[in-house]
Amino acid sequence: MKNAKYYLEKAQKEKFGIGQFNFSDFSQLRGIINKCAELKSPVILGTSEGESKFVGLQEAVAIRDVLRKKTGLPIFLNLDHGKSLEYLKQAIDAGYDMVHFDGSKLPLEENIKITKEVVKYAKRHGVTVEGEVGRIGTDSSKLYTEKFEIKEEDLTKPEDAKRFLKETKADLLAVSIGNFHGIEISGIDPNLRLEVLRAIKDEVGNALFVLHGGSGTPSDDIKEAIQLGVVKININTELRLAFSGNVRRALNNHVEEIVPYKYLTDAIYSVEKLVGLKIDIFGSANKA
Ligand code: 13P
Repeated sequence: MKNAKYYLEKAQKEKFGIGQFNFSDFSQLRGIINKCAELKSPVILGTSEGESKFVGLQEAVAIRDVLRKKTGLPIFLNLDHGKSLEYLKQAIDAGYDMVHFDGSKLPLEENIKITKEVVKYAKRHGVTVEGEVGRIGTDSSKLYTEKFEIKEEDLTKPEDAKRFLKETKADLLAVSIGNFHGIEISGIDPNLRLEVLRAIKDEVGNALFVLHGGSGTPSDDIKEAIQLGVVKININTELRLAFSGNVRRALNNHVEEIVPYKYLTDAIYSVEKLVGLKIDIFGSANKA
């Protein structure tokens, strides 16, 4: 099977996006993979540090292997928002395909220094590296009842992005362009600052960009961002909301039900449905 970088470059050339769908439970994963197999879409499975500690790094790799074998799909595993070189090394040693070092809260100098070390270790193992410049706010466990304000100074500065990619040789760059983790209570987040992405692209050229905080982002903005070089879009909050909402409803509606494979059916279906909608927006069907 071709590696993650191959598919990300294919996405860049053919102008589609690959979904990174986060999971921390096998039933969520089942919903994600069912739909990707049906639509023949490549897929990146994301686990944050917290999610990967719950699932287990080795367990996540073993499940990926089984699902790859069973479906024949290009399924890649990414350690999302790794905060330390040590933990990313553990993920690489376990067999992850990709790692994301999130040094965005560090001064640029320090971010570059650690990302370089991650790249050095990852390259020896054929692992793809995502770096991050600019700050992407909040987290994927919230519905925001108030408008989330993104500070101008948190947006990715084109010259920082250029320096970061030149010095670290990271494969992918996560950008802060008005995106944020989590979702507004309306279900639709404010528009992306596409002019910021255009300015970054003008400065760095044809890099592989990542859009975090994909939940709630207006579809037209995502489509436009893909035209500008975004090849990977991360989705977590919407999946968590769909899954947990359906588990809650099933248990409340059938208080006597104790069989997980019965009360989880609707939740799995809701994940399938959501992943199908995202694949449609990203244009990744039949790209496996
Ligand atoms: P959302 O939770 O907003 O979908 O963001 C997910 C993400 O970016 C994971 O890295």
